[in-house]
Amino acid sequence: MDASLYATLQEIRCAARTLVQSVPPADRRRMHHKDLSPLLWHLGHILYIEQQWVGERLAGLSHDNMRALLFRPDGLRKPERAARMPDLDAIARDWADWEGRFPELLAAAESAYPDHPLLARDFMLHFLIQHHGQHLETMRQALTARALDRDTGEFRPSQTLRSAPLSVRYRAWTGGHSPIGDDGPDSYDNERPSHDLPLPSFAIAERPVSNAAYLRFIEEDGYRDDRYWTHEGRHWRDHARAQAPWHWRLDGTGRWYGVDHSGPFELASDAPVFGLCAYEARAFARYARARLPHEAEWEAAMRAGLLLDVGRAWEWCENRFYPYPGFRPFPYRGYSMPWFDGAHTTLRGASIYSASATRRASFRNFHAADKRHIFAGVRLCHCLCLTH
Ligand code: AVJ
Ligand code: FE
Repeated sequence: MDASLYATLQEIRCAARTLVQSVPPADRRRMHHKDLSPLLWHLGHILYIEQQWVGERLAGLSHDNMRALLFRPDGLRKPERAARMPDLDAIARDWADWEGRFPELLAAAESAYPDHPLLARDFMLHFLIQHHGQHLETMRQALTARALDRDTGEFRPSQTLRSAPLSVRYRAWTGGHSPIGDDGPDSYDNERPSHDLPLPSFAIAERPVSNAAYLRFIEEDGYRDDRYWTHEGRHWRDHARAQAPWHWRLDGTGRWYGVDHSGPFELASDAPVFGLCAYEARAFARYARARLPHEAEWEAAMRAGLLLDVGRAWEWCENRFYPYPGFRPFPYRGYSMPWFDGAHTTLRGASIYSASATRRASFRNFHAADKRHIFAGVRLCHCLCLTH
């Protein structure tokens, strides 16, 4: 068991507990957003995942039906979870007990089956760190939803966010092959097998679209101009009554500010915009006479060093989430397989709320096109022949 990976795992467990503790008890069990489980569920779920993989699968401990019902994704339905959650003290006691046993259980399994695919190259620690890191980001989405509910509109930004004309520096990919994917123990099944892909030429923006440029789109009536929106996008927009990114609010004097897990904050004009669903990202791209990058273009450009400001906002891609040729589910079918369903769009990069363990060129995130609480923005791309 690698000591520094184990230390990272402990930090993430601790961050998750601290996060839940930071809100009053009633808000720990409430759903703050229709798509997001209670904070207590996430804390119990990451514990359950450790117990399932290390306890049951590797150490042969017995299965606990009640625990599985409460904390498996396919146990209780989301709206039923809040009422069934144990309180923080009870979950924290289970955690303390489990953390005391974990090192010995994992070390014993490692010495018994060093070549087991779940154990070789520290796979299990990598898997848990990345899994928990993603839940931590989801918990920050829930905290943001909570802060939005509580926002009084009294915040007064000290600087006005002013719109700016879109100015994009495009970088050219002139054609050729790029490595795609990663076979390392710290990659997910959907990144494998790695392969070389031929990619025709394209031009991709060096930086994601900024808050100031997105505000110009709003001011130029981008949300109302049907030319920019697909049929599905119009339907989403009208139903959601969207007029600005998810976490943007107007103060009493007509100035925009943002809200995140720690409350209201100033929107910097040159920071990458986020809080967009895929329909908004596509509408912006059409307004800018561009398109979204295919995720393979994104990865090729990233590996070639063409992209700046990666990791501040997730970036919606043009394509649906799909399996690479030769894909094999690992360590379980449910991580990626169910989401190759044509209903999920790939996102690349990371947000400022992402854990460091999942920040890499090959990482693939995936969500339905109407989700705007996932800290996602937009980077423009188009055919090389159109640059001028
Ligand atoms: C890849 C972020 C969409 O949170 O549903 C966590 C990651 N999978 N536990 C999600 C995940 C299982 C997943 N996303
Ligand atoms: Fe999970």
